[in-house]
Order: sequence, then C-alpha cells, then structure tokens
Amino acid sequence: MKRLIAPSILSADFNRLGEAIQTINQSEADFIHFDVMDGVFVPNISFGIPVIKDVNKIAEKPLDVHLMIVNPDKFIVPFAKAGASYLTVHYEACPHLHRTIQSIKEQNVKASVCLNPHTPVWLLEDIIAELDMVLLMSVNPGFGGQKFIENTYKKVAQLKELTERFNPDCLIEVDGGVNYETGKKLFEAGANVLVAGSFVFNAENSIETIKNLKLL
Ligand code: DX5
Ligand code: ZN
Repeated sequence: MKRLIAPSILSADFNRLGEAIQTINQSEADFIHFDVMDGVFVPNISFGIPVIKDVNKIAEKPLDVHLMIVNPDKFIVPFAKAGASYLTVHYEACPHLHRTIQSIKEQNVKASVCLNPHTPVWLLEDIIAELDMVLLMSVNPGFGGQKFIENTYKKVAQLKELTERFNPDCLIEVDGGVNYETGKKLFEAGANVLVAGSFVFNAENSIETIKNLKLL
C-alpha cells in the first residue's frame, strides 16, 4: 500500500519560502501541498497563483494544490498553468462537481475532491470512478495547527471500501492535525497520503520528521 507524505507550506516561514522548498526537495516527501484560501469558503486568506508559479520553478516534487475557494471552476486553467500536478476542489464548493472534475482532467492535471469533516463519504459514490484522489479534512479547513478530529479514522475506512469497490487506484489523502500518533492510525485505517504542516515545519529537523512519517 502506498504511504506518501505531502508537507504543507502553510506552516513554513514565508520570509524563507525558498529554503522551505529546498528542505522538501531534499527530503523523502512525495508532494508539496499548497493550501489556497480565499477568505470566503474558509475564514482565512493564504496565497495563490503567483506564489505557486514561482515555487514551481524550484520544486522537485509534484505540486498538490488544495483549493479552499468558492467557484474553483474559474481558476482551474491558471492553477494548471502555474504547475499543479494534483488539483483538489471541495465537494461543498462545487454544485456541478462532475463538470469541474472533467475540466481539471482536460488540463492533464490529476483530479481530486475534498470533503469537510461533516460531509459523508458516501456522497462520492457516483463520482469516485472519475477521481485520482480524495482528500479527507481531519480539521475544519482554514488554519494550520488544529486538533485532529477522531471521526476521521472511520471515514478513511469507509472511503477505502468505496475505492476498493469502484476505483482501487484512487488515493486517499488526509489533511489536518497529522503527527506520529494520528499518522500511524491513519495509515493503518487505509490512508495513502498524509498532509503535514505544523508537525513538519515546527519540528527541529523537518527532513527527519518527513522520513519518520513515511516509516510509520
Ligand atoms: C487546513 C489546511 C491544512 C493545514 C494542515 O485548512 O488544509 O493543509 O495546513 O496543517 P496542520 O498539519 O498544521 O494541521
Ligand atoms: Zn490542505
């Protein structure tokens, strides 16, 4: 089973963003996770297309872009052009999710859907066959460093059942409150990709921490 790590730069020191990217480049991380927030879908604003475009010039790992924005359809092409390998949209922000997913794929970008903590996994039954990845929020989106919501383990197991039935290649990613303890249980429950922000960037040694997370 795949066990991948996607450090989120949301918790990096933006004064030294280049160094944070080099750290990820030198580590065993599998992706670089970008938390794009618009202050409407979530109660916070982070960064957007120009930042991702510049990071892409030095990044040696695929860019995993998590759009916490309303109306993501408007921005699929610019994010694809900026270098996204995976584009994740929120189920809660997409009234025409099937169309949105097709638009992402038309850009030759991997398509992923994110569920907020309150959104049940079974709602994906009729779209899961189209997806490259599903992202489960294990905190309410908007901020790094929040407490992990325990109900997520159950959702990972439910999602694994769904992917095994309809799309065994679909990756299961989890985002929020990941540390050695929650990460181990998430991998055991069937997660394939763990996003980790504060746990990696507040650590004494980020490279070592990424390595340890992969070995959980
Ligand atoms: C939350 C973001 C997460 C966040 C994770 O809105 O989607 O990616 O950066 O941060 P930690 O790992 O600190 O919970
Ligand atoms: Zn995220």
